Amino acid sequence: MPRIVMGIESSCDETGVGLVRLHDDGSVELLADAVASSVDQHARFGGVVPEVASRAHLEAMVPTVHRAFADASLKLSDVDAIAVTAGPGLAGALLVGVSAAKAYSAALDVPLYGVNHLAGHIAVDTLQHGPLPTPCLALLVSGGHTQLLRVDDIASSITELGSTVDDAAGEAYDKVARLIDLPYPGGPPIDKAAADGDPAAIAFPRGMTGPRDAKFDFSFSGLKTAVARWVEAAERRGEPIPVADVAASFQEAVADVLTAKAVRAAKESGIGTLVISGGVAANSRLSALAAQRCADAGIELRVPRPRLCTDNGAMIAALGAHVVAADRPASSLDISANPALPV
Ligand code: KG4
Ligand code: ZN
Repeated sequence: MPRIVMGIESSCDETGVGLVRLHDDGSVELLADAVASSVDQHARFGGVVPEVASRAHLEAMVPTVHRAFADASLKLSDVDAIAVTAGPGLAGALLVGVSAAKAYSAALDVPLYGVNHLAGHIAVDTLQHGPLPTPCLALLVSGGHTQLLRVDDIASSITELGSTVDDAAGEAYDKVARLIDLPYPGGPPIDKAAADGDPAAIAFPRGMTGPRDAKFDFSFSGLKTAVARWVEAAERRGEPIPVADVAASFQEAVADVLTAKAVRAAKESGIGTLVISGGVAANSRLSALAAQRCADAGIELRVPRPRLCTDNGAMIAALGAHVVAADRPASSLDISANPALPV
């Protein structure tokens, strides 16, 4: 069974290369996690510009591979298998990673595994907290995704219970940050500003929580519009914007809906473990409220450390190791990127 797995990630604005070791007992050990981000190049546009991201991946890919091997004190020839994000993500960005992975697979004569980015966000937790009890639930919250997933087998069986019908949670953070003059990406500055604000100052709406709404779907565009209207009204009255209160009240609305639906899904399906991952999992209020509600409901909560939650190559290497351990057949060298790859 292959021992050392390299993971390559390039679905959005992070070029990630991870190295892991698969042990005989099925546990997976993190050896290196090199990431090059083009986030600064997108900041002035307020969101990721696909062409800019693709070009940045091209420039960063080979140096990031070399950095990962140097960090792990390994040689390219030590690799036994390669996993790459085949989707979902930005088409041009994904193609850079998939092409690089194919080239390394052919040159090193090792099997190639095209894997799912969303499953990678869940698999990464095994690097920190060990094997995942299954079934478990995963709440994936990032700039591009907001999904509630049921995991029966990390390598082969993940079912979507619900997802956002409009904006992703991180996207809502980024858009609201713009409205209150905070920088991009909006999550960290809103989180920081909210620490000095009153989460009950403004009663922002909780999207998709009506009796006729789909139980486990999410909506954040109404919340973003409500913040925009509130800010416009204050400006019309000539009042200064209470940034800390707006940030805290917005953050509370997001954390409330995400944790309420995740905990309800766990209770209804009798599942005892919830994993929260993706960039927004780094949010202080989301993790605090999730911890409180999970404890009340007797649910084990697993949140990987922030560095593992955001996009990286280690999550793809970890998933690759689980796929190898499950004896899934390797992908052929003609796999292509699929921007809309389902879980
Ligand atoms: O997983 P990620 O790094 O990339 C994507 O796949 O999108 O997530 C990035 C998103 C951004 O929207 C960013 O604003 C958000 O995660 N984010 C946060 C925090 N840190 C990052 N949102 C809320 N609170 C945070 N502390
Ligand atoms: Zn992601």
